[in-house]
Amino acid sequence: MFFRCYNRPGLTLSLPEQQELRKELLSVARTCFNPVPDYQCLSSRPDALDDKIIIVAYAEADSMNFEEETKNRRKDNTSHGEHCAVAFTSTLFLDDVPGVRNPVLHTGLTVAIPSVHRTGILAELFAQLFLNVVPMHPEGMWVTTLAAVLSSLVQSERALARSYPSPSAKRSMDNDGPPRPSSEYYSIARAIDKRYRAQLLISPKAIWDEESFVFRGSLDWDNQEADGFKKDVDDKRYWHRDEASNVFFRGLMREGKGDEVLLIGFVNEEILWKKLEELQQRQAEKRLLKNKL
Ligand SMILES: CC(C)(COP(=O)(O)OP(=O)(O)OC[C@H]1O[C@@H](n2cnc3c(N)ncnc32)[C@H](O)[C@@H]1OP(=O)(O)O)[C@@H](O)C(=O)NCCC(=O)NCCS
Repeated sequence: MFFRCYNRPGLTLSLPEQQELRKELLSVARTCFNPVPDYQCLSSRPDALDDKIIIVAYAEADSMNFEEETKNRRKDNTSHGEHCAVAFTSTLFLDDVPGVRNPVLHTGLTVAIPSVHRTGILAELFAQLFLNVVPMHPEGMWVTTLAAVLSSLVQSERALARSYPSPSAKRSMDNDGPPRPSSEYYSIARAIDKRYRAQLLISPKAIWDEESFVFRGSLDWDNQEADGFKKDVDDKRYWHRDEASNVFFRGLMREGKGDEVLLIGFVNEEILWKKLEELQQRQAEKRLLKNKL
């Protein structure tokens, strides 16, 4: 597998290249959504790719033995030359966040074809994302994730420092550690609540619960685009391996009400290298365990 970063492709790629990229994103999305939401980088709006930073994972067609769906997508002419898009994460900077000095990156939409689910794809996509965006802002940036998918929340928590809400922040507060969240967390959350609901697909009727950092009823509305994202929060296919973290995030959301947690964290060059080391260590441990089985 290899990765490509597309930085604001709507402004930097030629029209045919944009169309090719759009075809790749849609081919991945079609394996998970029916219908594909007209949302974020998948939107049909002509400016949809202007503000996105997208990491796409490709399988090298001849070296990977992928399942039927990948073959079918090749037959449908949805592959890019010798390569076939298998996953992507699409992000954007939120430029209108008063009271916050560092940039704010929102990790908006992550999709992988079913045959690469449960392979550690999320960690790979996020590592590639930060390897590309942190050098643009080495002083560091805030990163937001809005999700009901527990594995996405735990993954973001692990890839970032100072994550809130998170089990480690709770432990620190329980043990009289530094009070959290600081004013920046509230400024970011309030900007999302007031200015970014439409862009982040948050229901206009959702209630921002500042106690728990949850948009209550975020996905619970009459909008076809939001339908595909409604998940059963108890469905273990979307859980992380880390049981304690699952329990923590699960506990923030109500069952069947379309709640989504807003997780905010921070990353800079130093944090990135530390997190990459931790990731490599976890991957080595997983390989060791797999070899033992
Ligand atoms: C979002 C999406 C890409 C996540 O896929 P995924 O398969 O959960 O991603 P990963 O393979 O990285 O797995 C994530 C975690 O799940 C857990 N996991 C993976 N395989 C597992 C297994 N066999 N048993 C238990 N836990 C497992 C692990 O904790 C893993 O993280 P780790 O490998 O770092 O420990 C996928 O669910 C998807 O495409 N969904 C459809 C699109 C969507 O709804 N996106 C919403 C988010 S914007």
